[in-house]
Amino acid sequence: MSNYHIKSLEEYFQVYRKSIRNPELFWEEIAEEHFTWRKRWDEIFSYDFKKPEVKWYEGAKLNITENCIDRHLHIRGEKTAIIFEPNNPNEKAKHISYNQLHTRVCKFANVLKDFGVNKGDRVCLYLPMIPELAVAVLACARIGAIHSVVFAGFSAAALSTRINDCDAKIVVTADGGFRGAKTIELKPIVDKALKDCPNVETVLVAKRTMAEVKMKKKRDKWLKPLLSKAYNDCFPELMDAEDPLFILYTSGSTGLPKGMVHTTAGYMVYTGYTFKNVFSYTEDDVYWCTADIGWITGHSYIVYGPLLNGATTVMYEGVPTYPDNGRFWKIIEKHKVNQFYTAPTAIRALAKEKIEFTQKYNLSTLKVLGTVGEPINEEAWHWYNENIGKKKSPIVDTYWQTETGGIMISPIPYVTPTTPTYATLPLPGIQPILMDDQGYEIKGNQVEGKLCIKFPWPAMARTIWGNHKRYKHTYFSTFKNNYFTGDGALRDEVGYYRITGRVDDVIIVSGHNLGTAPIEDAINEHQAVAESAVVGFPHDIKGHALYGFVTLKVMGAGRDHENLREEINQLISDRIGPIAKLNVIQFTNGLPKTRSGKIMRRILRKVASKETTNLGDTSTLLNPEVVQEIIDNAIS
Ligand code: PRX
Repeated sequence: MSNYHIKSLEEYFQVYRKSIRNPELFWEEIAEEHFTWRKRWDEIFSYDFKKPEVKWYEGAKLNITENCIDRHLHIRGEKTAIIFEPNNPNEKAKHISYNQLHTRVCKFANVLKDFGVNKGDRVCLYLPMIPELAVAVLACARIGAIHSVVFAGFSAAALSTRINDCDAKIVVTADGGFRGAKTIELKPIVDKALKDCPNVETVLVAKRTMAEVKMKKKRDKWLKPLLSKAYNDCFPELMDAEDPLFILYTSGSTGLPKGMVHTTAGYMVYTGYTFKNVFSYTEDDVYWCTADIGWITGHSYIVYGPLLNGATTVMYEGVPTYPDNGRFWKIIEKHKVNQFYTAPTAIRALAKEKIEFTQKYNLSTLKVLGTVGEPINEEAWHWYNENIGKKKSPIVDTYWQTETGGIMISPIPYVTPTTPTYATLPLPGIQPILMDDQGYEIKGNQVEGKLCIKFPWPAMARTIWGNHKRYKHTYFSTFKNNYFTGDGALRDEVGYYRITGRVDDVIIVSGHNLGTAPIEDAINEHQAVAESAVVGFPHDIKGHALYGFVTLKVMGAGRDHENLREEINQLISDRIGPIAKLNVIQFTNGLPKTRSGKIMRRILRKVASKETTNLGDTSTLLNPEVVQEIIDNAIS
């Protein structure tokens, strides 16, 4: 039996049972056999979900970059670690070997040190998908600085909120980035953000678009000359197992984004282990995940998971539709990709296009297909299976979250029989349970409830940066002694899990988590707006899209509604980013409210989804008359 690479269903059940019966032994063997430690742990794990406090491999000393890079050098030094595929198909791809990655990471780490970055300091990375981003992530980890990557599609306001929340004193960015036919300016966004961030002392700027940018004296520095002068070796900082590795912000149902804190040893072991199994990765495979490193998928399964296994990982700068809808498939052919991991929203968008786009390319190298980020509908699953996998490559529908650090529920390819729309079975070490609204566990099969995890796993986020109370409240207070995911799920007759979607006020649009409250806050900033409520509704390509109900201070008072809609979306774009723009905005005289003044979102969700025949009980409403008005004026 191999703990590390499961090869049959029987083995999966054996390994799973072992991981539950004897988690200490299970996680000890994996840590011992597959990772490099400077000092061994004293205890495999300890936890108390009441506090909550979770620790893995306490007492151990290590550096994750030694595991991602150094230990491979003598056997895989010349092997390609990262293939960078530029946005423009005519620009040559770059192959970065493990040796080169080592040098680049060390040089970058030395530059950070020269600017006074020490162990525990936070470094904000606001970069496009260029190799410097992966290098910067690893450079931070090399010296024990905590990286906080902010997706380069976020606005200046969203960036400054995140920089201030974690009190980063240094920002790494680029002049701009290429995404499809668009050139995105990044440096001006950083400049705008930093007007609200008095503590940032240094901005390091990579060159990508060659756009002319303003450099602020003393604060802003071009990266390239600094890197070329930097020494090419850097001793890896010795980290404690529970030292923070990174902070990554995710939307919550309310208020500020949550800075999820991931720590070193547990995250390393879990991402390395799950990468190997979920993608059935073997030496010399070429693996490609299309996510952006600004999201958790990119952290765990573009950078850390693959490099921990000495893999070759593809980083693609652009979008699936540039220069045409065949780009993904062209890249698979070009780099002979074996494992391909993407989001259902991309699959749905490409499935709408002419089938010739997929047929033109040789996809025969593919062995495993993955999806992540939202439920995959049956139609998209079949399209992916037939046209991309040619019914030969198993699809792994991987369920997990920013908070979980790594994949939680997923088939293991060539091991777990797949069923469309099912994430299937928990990975070893993961103990999911379903709960009812009264807080009791729902046992047995063919049941549906709220998805919790009842036992700790190595990669779980340990806290919310600067707000442990919120961590406790968000994840450990709804169901006592359990981690609550915020998702609903059903368990079928054979014990397979199917994720049914969020049960809170988080909406997943094109695979991106968006909290309704920050969007409503942005809308309410408009001087003409009295109040607003945002809900999700099903959308062919995005999975869900956003529908805003807005009441104006003076309804219909001579304002052009089309202009108002544009202004509202512009505000959302400025405060959060274009990903949070509303698809539909309906102006209304009022919002349905309970007697205690709470907006009845259930009704609004039904209106937005055009399910108005059965609205449920509306008798408790303060203002039942607005419901009919809202239905009559609903926008299709
Ligand atoms: O609702 C679930 C959905 O995405 C949420 C987590 O989003 P985020 O933290 O941005 O991480 C996304 C990438 C890991 C979950 O709470 N989700 C993620 N994967 C799936 C999914 N829903 C259904 N099926 C999935 N495979």
